[in-house]
Amino acid sequence: MHRYKLLGSDTIHEVTAANLSEHLDAIYANQVQRYVDGTGTVLPASNSEPGFVMRVLERLDLRPGQRVLEVGSGGGWLAAVMGKAVGPTGGVTGIEIIEELATQSRRDLRAAGMENVQIVSADGAKGWPAGAPYDRVMFTVGTYDLPIAFFDQVRDGGLLAMPFQNRAKRGFACDFLVLRRSGDRFHAVASMPAFFVKFQGEKGGDADPIVDLASLALCRPGELVGYGSPAAFERFMAGYRAWCDLGMPPSAGLDVVVCPNADVARAPPGSWLDRRGDAALIWSAKQAMA
Ligand SMILES: C[S@@+](CC[C@H](N)C(=O)[O-])C[C@H]1O[C@@H](n2cnc3c(N)ncnc32)[C@H](O)[C@@H]1O
Repeated sequence: MHRYKLLGSDTIHEVTAANLSEHLDAIYANQVQRYVDGTGTVLPASNSEPGFVMRVLERLDLRPGQRVLEVGSGGGWLAAVMGKAVGPTGGVTGIEIIEELATQSRRDLRAAGMENVQIVSADGAKGWPAGAPYDRVMFTVGTYDLPIAFFDQVRDGGLLAMPFQNRAKRGFACDFLVLRRSGDRFHAVASMPAFFVKFQGEKGGDADPIVDLASLALCRPGELVGYGSPAAFERFMAGYRAWCDLGMPPSAGLDVVVCPNADVARAPPGSWLDRRGDAALIWSAKQAMA
């Protein structure tokens, strides 16, 4: 962390070798700091809240010898932590789209002696096939879709952790899912609400704006299911009643399977098909609740 700004403050802090000790409390606190570039511009990037990251790392169960891919490696601190966990027989590749952060983190990791961590400066939308298959993939940036490349780059049985941008709320709200690959799909093994900065580059952007929550328009991406008609109202109410009957579970209380969109013809009975782009999310009631 060389230049940062705390949330809710406009003060930009410059960290140097001489004043490092004054910043350690802020840098090691369980809070988010926005990264600032060499011109003083606040970047669409931050460190992730350490407490949240540690909860995800517990779920990722990193072991010596594993190969890990981090998408959105920022200042490189998490890549370093994961590099320690997988040890010299394993390795971590971090992908960072902001050139300045990638270059700086590469220098810092080298200075820290982290030889098993490499940082590449690229758009993470295609993953990093050169190191695949990975035992673990961690996105620390919110994406609306899971790019198709990741269906091939996680080994079967491996884990993928990522914040899916929340369709209804847009903004920074995400459903953070930890998913296990099983054949051609991923099954959620943990789900938690979270806030993450948004994916930039080829796959950047918000949730598709088709779903208009202010009027009675029922849509799937690219398809108007019904608009302002009694049929549309009845479809909406049937789904709403089913959700109420389940006890109005939040998204973290539902089962999620993530598949390539092209592989899913229609929603399996009793589920909600959420087509994102390359990927489709299939939400359903947890077995215990059904
Ligand atoms: C919340 S920061 C996470 C930084 C670090 N991993 C951490 O946990 O502190 C998200 C990072 O993702 C990067 N990012 C955004 N879109 C990206 C993309 N398409 N490919 C690679 N990195 C991306 C941002 O530049 C930012 O540095």
